[in-house]
Amino acid sequence: MDEKTSPKVPDAEAPSRYLPGLSAKLLLLTILFVMVAEVLVFVPSVSNFRRQWLMERLAAAQIASLVAEAAPGGQLPTMLRDELLNSARVKAIAVKRESSRVLIIEMDMPAEVDASYDLRNASWPTLIADALMVYFASDDNIIRVVGDAGFHQGATIDVVMEEWPLKEAMVGYGLGILGLSILISVITAALVYLALDALLVKPMTKLTRNMVRFGEQPEDSSRIILPSERRDEIGTAERELSAMQHELSQTLSQKTRLAALGLAVSKINHDLRNILSSAQLLSDRLATVKDPTVQRLVPKLIASLDRAIRLCVHTLDFGQAHEVSPARMRFELAPLVNEIGDSLGLPRAGMIAWNLDIEEELEVDADRDQLYRVLSNLCRNAVQALEAEGETAGEIMVVARREGAVAIIDVADTGTGVPEKAQERLFQAFQSVARKGGSGLGLAIASELVQAHGGEIALVSNDGGATFRVTIPDVVVELKRARQRRA
Ligand SMILES: Nc1ncnc2c1ncn2[C@@H]1O[C@H](COP(=O)(O)OP(=O)(O)OP(=O)(O)O)[C@@H](O)[C@H]1O
Ligand SMILES: [Mg+2]
Repeated sequence: MDEKTSPKVPDAEAPSRYLPGLSAKLLLLTILFVMVAEVLVFVPSVSNFRRQWLMERLAAAQIASLVAEAAPGGQLPTMLRDELLNSARVKAIAVKRESSRVLIIEMDMPAEVDASYDLRNASWPTLIADALMVYFASDDNIIRVVGDAGFHQGATIDVVMEEWPLKEAMVGYGLGILGLSILISVITAALVYLALDALLVKPMTKLTRNMVRFGEQPEDSSRIILPSERRDEIGTAERELSAMQHELSQTLSQKTRLAALGLAVSKINHDLRNILSSAQLLSDRLATVKDPTVQRLVPKLIASLDRAIRLCVHTLDFGQAHEVSPARMRFELAPLVNEIGDSLGLPRAGMIAWNLDIEEELEVDADRDQLYRVLSNLCRNAVQALEAEGETAGEIMVVARREGAVAIIDVADTGTGVPEKAQERLFQAFQSVARKGGSGLGLAIASELVQAHGGEIALVSNDGGATFRVTIPDVVVELKRARQRRA
C-alpha cells in the first residue's frame, strides 16, 4: 500500500500508559472496592463495639450496686454514692431481683430519658441500627440501658446515663477503622496496580502500539511484532498477531507485485496485438506466392496469428484478470492436436517422438481456441521436460477417447516427471515453478480454462514421465451438473 493512501492513525489515539489509561482505572477501582469491603466489615464491628461498651458500663454499675448493698443499714452517704455512680459513668442504677426486691441508687438526674435500649434480647439488625444512630445523636442525650445482672439468675440491671461518652468512644473507634481502611486500600491498590501493570497493561500497551505502528505501513515487515516467550494468553495474542501480520505483509507485497505484473501484461498485450496485426498483413501477402511449400504453410501461419490476435483482444476486453467464458462447439480433436504438434515442431527427428492415439472422428464439445491453449501448454511442458534431459530421445503421447458424454485426453511424456516441490500447488499461478526460465503460469491457465468447461485436469501418473489428464464433459452434461449444483 502506498504510504499516502494508508489510513493514518492519529497519535492522540495511541493509548497513554498514564492517566486515564487502564492502569489508572484499575487503581481507582481497587481503592473503591477495598473501601466498600471495609464498610461492610465496619458496620457489624461498630455495633459490636457499642454493645461491648454498654456491657462494660452495666458491669461497672453492678459492682457499684454490690458496694451499695453492703452499706450498713442499706443507706449510702451521698458522697460515696456519687463517687460510685461517677466511677461507673452512670447517673442511676436499679437492680431488680427475682424476689422483686429493687435497689435503686440515683443522683439528681433529669426527669426525661431520650431513648431506652434492652441488651438482653436485641437482634443483630436492631443493634446495628442503634449503633449507627449514635453517630447522629445529640450530645446531651440521656439513655436508659437494661441488661442481665450476672450475679443472680433472673436479676436485671437497669442504668441511666449520658450518651456522649459512648458517642465519643464510637467516633474514636470509627476514625481508627477509617484510617486503617485507607491504609489497607492504598497498599492493596498499589500492589494490585503494580502487578497488573507488569502483567497486563505493559504488554497490552506494547501490543496496541505495535498494531498502530504496523497499521500505518503494513508492507514494512520490520514493523511486525516480535513475540515474547510468554506461555499465557498475552503470549498467544502476540504470537497470533505476529503470524497475522506476517501473512498480511506477504499478501500485500504479493498483491503489489501482481498489480505491477498485471499492468505490464496489459501493456505488452496492447502492443503485441498491433505487432501481430502487421504480421498478419504480411502473411496475407505471402499467400499470393505460388510456391507449394509456402501455400502449405501460410494457412497455418495465418491461423496461429488469428488465434494470437483473438487472445490479445479478449484479454484486453476482459480487464486482464479472468478468461472469457468458453464459446463452445463440437469439433474434431485430431486436427487440433496436429496443429499443436506443428506449432511445437513435433516430431523432432531422433529427439522427440510424437505419437497420437485418438479415436477416429473423436469430437470434443469445447471452445477450440481455449482447448488449443490447454493442450498446447501441456505439450510444451512435455517438450521442455524432455529437452531438459539432454541427448536422450523421448516420446510424447496424446491419447484421447470418449466415455459417454465426456471426452478424456491424456498427454504423457517419458521425461523425469514433475518434481516433488512443484506438485503441491501445481495448478496455482506462480506457485509451482520448478523449471529454470519457467513462469509457473502454464498449468494455472490450463486449469482455469478446463474448469470453465466444467471439466478437470490432473496429474494422473508421474512414474517414468508425467501424464496429465484433461476431461471435458459435453455442454449438456455440464449444464445438468450446474443445475444439480444449484439445486
Ligand atoms: N510434463 C512435465 N514433466 C515434468 N515437469 C513438469 C511437466 N509439466 C509441468 N512440470 C513442472 O511443473 C512446473 C509448472 O508448470 P507450468 O506450465 O505451470 O509452468 P512453467 O512451465 O514453469 O512456466 P510457463 O508459465 O512458461 O508454462 C514446471 O516448472 C515444471 O517443473
Ligand atoms: Mg509450462
